[in-house]
Amino acid sequence: MRAVVLVGGFGTRLRPLTLGTPKQMLPVVDRPMIEWVVGRLAEHGVDEAVLALGYRPDAFIEAYPDDECAGVRLAYAVEDVPLDTAGAIRFAAREAEVDERFLVLNGDVLTDLDIGALLDAHDASGGAGTIHLHPVDDPSRYGVVPIDGDGRVLEFVEKPPRDSAPSNWINAGTYVLEPEVLDLIDHEGPVSIERVTFPALAAEGKLFGFQSETYWLDAGTPATYLQAQLDLVDGHRAETPPAIAADASVADGAKVEHAVLMSGSSVADGASVIDSVLLPGARVESGATVRDAIVGPHAVVGPDAVVEAGTVLGDGAVVAAGEVLTDARRPEAD
Ligand code: GDD
Ligand code: MG
Repeated sequence: MRAVVLVGGFGTRLRPLTLGTPKQMLPVVDRPMIEWVVGRLAEHGVDEAVLALGYRPDAFIEAYPDDECAGVRLAYAVEDVPLDTAGAIRFAAREAEVDERFLVLNGDVLTDLDIGALLDAHDASGGAGTIHLHPVDDPSRYGVVPIDGDGRVLEFVEKPPRDSAPSNWINAGTYVLEPEVLDLIDHEGPVSIERVTFPALAAEGKLFGFQSETYWLDAGTPATYLQAQLDLVDGHRAETPPAIAADASVADGAKVEHAVLMSGSSVADGASVIDSVLLPGARVESGATVRDAIVGPHAVVGPDAVVEAGTVLGDGAVVAAGEVLTDARRPEAD
């Protein structure tokens, strides 16, 4: 079985971290996000993942020179222009000559979903497509998917206004699709699966949902990219990687609490890092405080500075001694 993995977005919400690196190549604790996503495919009989690439495709191709990622063979489909989700699926599946049922994954979704159970539900329903559904408190940031008692999707509403969502069950970004769905995406240019293809399939009664409450998170915003990592080291997932890399350094008089310290990062004497992530080579100098923040690769938080409340520092960003950054982006990017 093949899986098309959507990894071509610009990662706008994660800027400045994504200015030079695509979202799915950002590290999540001890490995790039894409390896967490692809890593769960091998055990369910997926032998090839087709990466639907657009933004900075070289980052993926260079990272996996043997065309293998987490035990799965990789193929690449590089879009000349962004084709949006359905356009990207169609292009990648055609390039890879997919001719039987296949999986589609949003590349920023971290989940312990039982893919075998999703496939079984799909085969039992006989539908053209089956979507993994997850319950959330605020569905307005997602595709909202009410179903009937047989699991048939009644409608698919992408990002409805707050309080008007017809259900709390949302599109969790893993699909099983029959090849016939590709024929529905008849346009050569950009097409959204959420706004065009799924609503059309739902109207024909051919789309099903599979509800699951297992661990799920879309790591596409600063808050969830941070949470994804703390969830892993807190032991909320099937695997628990170490929070502090073997070659990270923490001075004796430093305080590190509920934090991820990646390779080569350091925390000096009298500094504290709480509820935060330090990417590779990030440096927190003496007396500084980092709380609820993401410190990008090789960024430096100067002595006695404070970096807090959702602040994101990009690659090599510098915070001067004594400076205070609250809910900030450095460099600012829009
Ligand atoms: N190849 C390619 N080309 N990939 C793309 C493109 C494109 O033009 N546009 C977006 N992607 C990729 C992104 O890289 C990401 O992995 C995936 O498609 C989804 O895009 P996001 O930008 O992360 O979408 P979202 O999080 O706002 O919403 C989507 O995911 C939610 C669940 O996490 C939708 O599918 C929602 O319906 C869903 O609820
Ligand atoms: Mg997303």
